[in-house]
Amino acid sequence: MTTSQKAFPPPLGGLDYLASAILLLNAEHRVCYANSAAENLLEATGRALLQRPLNTVARYSATLQQALDNAVANNWSYTGQNVEIRRGKPDRGETLHLNCTVTPMQSPDAPEVRMLVELQPIDQQLKASREERRIEQQQASRELIRNLAHEIKNPLGGIRGAAQLLERELNNPVLQEYTQVIIKEADRLQDLMQRLLSPHRAALQPRLMSVHEVLERVGSLLKLEFPATLSILRDYDTSLPELVADREQLIQVFLNIARNAAQAMEGKGEIVFRSRSARQVTLVKRRFRLAIDVAIIDNGPGIADDFRERMFYPLVSGRPDGTGLGLTLAQSFVQQHQGTIECESRPGHTVFLIRLPLNAFDPASSESLP
Ligand SMILES: Nc1ncnc2c1ncn2[C@@H]1O[C@H](COP(=O)(O)OP(=O)(O)OP(=O)(O)O)[C@@H](O)[C@H]1O
Ligand SMILES: [Mg+2]
Repeated sequence: MTTSQKAFPPPLGGLDYLASAILLLNAEHRVCYANSAAENLLEATGRALLQRPLNTVARYSATLQQALDNAVANNWSYTGQNVEIRRGKPDRGETLHLNCTVTPMQSPDAPEVRMLVELQPIDQQLKASREERRIEQQQASRELIRNLAHEIKNPLGGIRGAAQLLERELNNPVLQEYTQVIIKEADRLQDLMQRLLSPHRAALQPRLMSVHEVLERVGSLLKLEFPATLSILRDYDTSLPELVADREQLIQVFLNIARNAAQAMEGKGEIVFRSRSARQVTLVKRRFRLAIDVAIIDNGPGIADDFRERMFYPLVSGRPDGTGLGLTLAQSFVQQHQGTIECESRPGHTVFLIRLPLNAFDPASSESLP
């Protein structure tokens, strides 16, 4: 029995037995009651939740805030699907994806209670199928880009060759400037097309390696690029076993992600490389006994929610001189290792979590799920 429950007579006390997380709030959104499921969900005891405004125990969008206001002011109900709520301390919280219902209520048993908030975590399966859909979409868009790159690459060679021939016939240097523009721009496009096509060319060369050795290499490359003001901190679990992976691809993955962080901070700030083990993880419908989590954390400006949805797509960039290929490549390489990349961000704290199974290339190290 929770402390909060004692405040209520039996009809409301019965809420404690429900599997859904239930919170009863007063007109100022202060918690009058939280059932056991809500305590578990928010990782706080009833005592810690009682009488505290909901937005001080969890953080949520303006839409949900509005829904709570509307329940009090207009007696309106609200149902939201896949609502994001952050629990825990602001500096190291965790985002939950939930279905949420707000129901205005008035009960003689508890006159101060003005609404009932019901929260149901979206289960693992839904998350997995969303992940799968995202991968399919990304594969489709990569395929499209690749086909387009092929189509552009071939005539580009012709255009460049023709401009070169033309240049030889031209005696006027002013006109040669024009052909030079054609040649240089054709080269720039060729280079871009090459980069769009290349990740699918190279054959994977997996071998046993230490993830820390790869991270150290990435750290030293970054230091060369941003020598003065960037600090790189290491938080390694040194007991981690080695993993089977393609070294060059892993370097590229971590470098692309860490370089983005350094660029977002204009070379001034702190990047943390963290490694941990993860047991019994489900990655794209396969369950692996052991995986390695590498988190690349920066204290830069952060990434807006709506941009975070799109940033893995090819040619999507937030920088004036960016090509928008870094994360696409990273994603593609990680997927070839059966891994996933997730990102959480708020100003001052951005985390890219790369989860890699210990041995993606050995069927015996995982079991496939229905
Ligand atoms: N840690 C981060 N902090 C802030 N913004 C980020 C971070 N990581 C990525 N971004 C944003 O995501 C965008 C896409 O990154 P991505 O690496 O795919 O392309 P790019 O860096 O713009 O170009 P390229 O890597 O091809 O040179 C970046 O332009 C940046 O706006
Ligand atoms: Mg980049």
